[in-house]
Amino acid sequence: MKALILSGGRGTRLRPLTYTTAKQLLPVANKPILFFVIDQVVEAGIEDIGIIICPETGESVKAAVGDGSRWGVKITYILQDKPAGLAHAVRTARDFLGDERFVMFLGDNLIQGGVTGLVEEFKKNGGEATILLKEVPDPRQFGVAVLDEENRVVRLIEKPKEPPSNLALVGVYLFSGCIHEAISRINPSWRGELEITDAIQELLNMGARVDARILEGWWLDTGKKDDILEANRVVLDEFASRRIEGEVCPESQVNGRAEVAKSARVIRSIIRGPVVIGEGVTIEDCFIGPFTAIGDRSELRNVTIEHSVVLEDCRLYDVGRIEDSLIGRNVKVSRANDGRQALRLFLGDDSQLAV
Ligand code: TTP
Repeated sequence: MKALILSGGRGTRLRPLTYTTAKQLLPVANKPILFFVIDQVVEAGIEDIGIIICPETGESVKAAVGDGSRWGVKITYILQDKPAGLAHAVRTARDFLGDERFVMFLGDNLIQGGVTGLVEEFKKNGGEATILLKEVPDPRQFGVAVLDEENRVVRLIEKPKEPPSNLALVGVYLFSGCIHEAISRINPSWRGELEITDAIQELLNMGARVDARILEGWWLDTGKKDDILEANRVVLDEFASRRIEGEVCPESQVNGRAEVAKSARVIRSIIRGPVVIGEGVTIEDCFIGPFTAIGDRSELRNVTIEHSVVLEDCRLYDVGRIEDSLIGRNVKVSRANDGRQALRLFLGDDSQLAV
């Protein structure tokens, strides 16, 4: 079986970070989200992976992921010229996919426990599609499924005002080659996109069998800033271990599950896990609280920070307390020691600042 991972899209809700990087490459626990997705696909035994990229961020995805040799798999990049919807992405990958069964995974989604069981089952069962669903408290912002008593899908509705169930579509789908016929029959939605929910509804209209599985574990859709922080929290909570490879001075304390990568230095500071500190990072006179990830080569002096994600090459000096923050690459935040009570800002378009 092949896999199709979607790593195109606009990423408007994560601007300004997505002006310079693909949202799928944003890190949680210092590892790109897309790498977690590839790990799970590879874990399911799939060795032939297509990745949808877009013109704006495709080169950075290629540079980060490479040819797949890191995972021992073959990766084919497929350029989607515009973000015209998930079904449009499948249509764009038609030649790569052929008529085989495949798993499609959104490159910014993380699910607990991976997809091995789903893939194994789909290889054997005779259905044309299996969708993964998750019970959510407010399904109005999702695609929602109605099931019969055998867990087969009866109907799908995109962002319903009055949801007929609380089962939202998670970003993992399994399809047979029939999906291509269904996609060829649908038209763009009101938002101008070829929707995968419409294609699956079309499969149902064609009389195909569409099964559903309900995900019991967590599902993280990292479309917005707070979603990235939540993903960072959940992933650190589940996977962080204690590994100190850098230098920790005797006046510092590192408590709990903290990873301090090689060539990082911790000076007169307290680190309370779960935390990851990247390579070459300097932490001096700081408190680094739980659920924080600090990217490679960043420097923090005299800062208290928790529940935050800081990317590479940042400098945070003397700024008191930082919480619930997502800070892009190469950002500098410091205190001007001139006695004036003023904020002096140099922020990119679409930045957000809460003071
Ligand atoms: P979305 O998060 O729904 O869309 P988006 O990336 O355009 O983000 P925003 O709404 O903030 O502008 O996309 C889900 C995933 O699918 C994401 O990983 C991007 C990918 N995608 C494609 O590869 N091609 C597409 O045409 C679309 C719409 C999404």
